[in-house]
Amino acid sequence: MLDDLKAKNRAWAERKTADDPGYFRRLVGQQAPQYLWIGCSDSRVPATEIVDLDPGEMFVHRNIANLAPPQDANYLSVLQYAVDVLKVRHILVVGHYGCGGIAAAVDGGRRGLIDHWLHPIRETAHEHRHELEVIPEERERLNRLCELNVVRQVRNVGSDVFVQDAWARGQKISVHGWVYSLETGLITDLDVTVRSSADVEKLES
Ligand code: CO
Repeated sequence: MLDDLKAKNRAWAERKTADDPGYFRRLVGQQAPQYLWIGCSDSRVPATEIVDLDPGEMFVHRNIANLAPPQDANYLSVLQYAVDVLKVRHILVVGHYGCGGIAAAVDGGRRGLIDHWLHPIRETAHEHRHELEVIPEERERLNRLCELNVVRQVRNVGSDVFVQDAWARGQKISVHGWVYSLETGLITDLDVTVRSSADVEKLES
């Protein structure tokens, strides 16, 4: 099976070079992506493929349930590098309907470390319990929680000091909240984009 992956890699590299002989040479030269993607680790949500971008065009951070926790050194390092060094223009927080992480956060099960990782989602569910309680269908209720989680993470990113300081310096950064559908392959923009500290203040999440 791994030999299969290596063979696929060779075929892919050959295809790329056949289409465009300078392809890899150009990529070695520089990395200048305009976008930072913060998405779920789910194998069905391959970041660059969904938005049809080439290598070099998007900086990517993925974790279970697309969280942006303000104490997570991995996420913070990615965010700082994207904002301060790469100077990305857009940060995309992308959840997806049918997210197993979202379901696991609120099903009462015990799985170990992951229960701690998912804790912020339980807090979001609690804050919005009155809205969620009246949604009779479980699938619909969880999908709404996927959306609420994205909005919450947009607020986390927008209120982070790296982003706040960049805005104060006059750097143009937009933080967007999207949700991807596994069923249709389509992205829905939740229209919660923030472009300034004032936008973050107004964001309800
Ligand atoms: Co997921």
